[in-house]
Amino acid sequence: MTTKITKAIFPVAGLGTRFLPATKALPKEMLPVVDKPLIQYAVEEAYAAGIREMIFVNGRNKRAIPDHFDTAYELETEMEAAGKTELLETVRSIKPDDMHCIYLRQPKALGLGHAVLCAEPVVREEPFAVLLADDLMVGEPPVLKQMVEQFNDWRTSILAVQEVPAEHTRRYGIVSGRPVGERMLDLTGIVEKPAPEVAPSRLGVAGRYILTPGIFKEIRNQPRGVGGEIQLTDGIAGLLRREKVFAYTYQGQRYDCGSKEGFLQANVELALAHPTLGAEFKRYLDARYGVA
Ligand code: UTP
Repeated sequence: MTTKITKAIFPVAGLGTRFLPATKALPKEMLPVVDKPLIQYAVEEAYAAGIREMIFVNGRNKRAIPDHFDTAYELETEMEAAGKTELLETVRSIKPDDMHCIYLRQPKALGLGHAVLCAEPVVREEPFAVLLADDLMVGEPPVLKQMVEQFNDWRTSILAVQEVPAEHTRRYGIVSGRPVGERMLDLTGIVEKPAPEVAPSRLGVAGRYILTPGIFKEIRNQPRGVGGEIQLTDGIAGLLRREKVFAYTYQGQRYDCGSKEGFLQANVELALAHPTLGAEFKRYLDARYGVA
């Protein structure tokens, strides 16, 4: 097993039902927060963590994401002719030359675990990252970079976790474990979407994972879990019986952009922090609502 994380999987084949009607014909990962689609934030986070091979597991509405990372010759030629060099740079920087994109297909939305399993023929025997782009993470250093640094020390699977309100445990995989560092737990258990009364803790899994290739066999061996889906959480619970799995309380802010509320919060906060839009947007909010 190589020990460097070189590949990231982006499962983008979910149905996005919580965000209908916007996601009827558009993958939710293409929804823009301020001026960039969610998937671009996630790819940039992986790139900042030193990853250069980006593996997208696509579903229906499969074209928008490959198109976004493809070269747009017509657009570039027009901008070049018009001397719009800054915009040209913005468009070209979406896919740096040393970044490689691989597109796979999940024929049916059978669950996140199944989507990850679809990438096995490309990942094979290496540890890899999984990023759920609808969880927009803002951190310094970027959250996946923090996790890769932890992986370099511990050399085992690591899940990103955060404390969640007791009444929200039903939305997350919830972990239990024993502390092995300031922000690190050695996992003893993980359950998908438990009711607050039976949740083993209030630490919920966020959409960033570093996993060893042993996970593939575990996912394959799982029966369908919560909601009839092949759950990644169940695969991780299986992995836990054979290998160490750690949970890392990341430093940063997560926006659940798969929900309308989280998406709106992300737009407001990232707009306020935006280098060119922020000051004007703050003035607008102040004048209109007296709140920003
Ligand atoms: P979600 O649990 O948010 O499911 O998926 P969803 O279907 O996309 O959205 P809702 O709940 O209906 O609104 C978490 C991540 O896993 C991917 C999604 O694209 C998202 O990035 N996913 C989920 C797949 O790629 N395939 C699946 O079968 C399920």
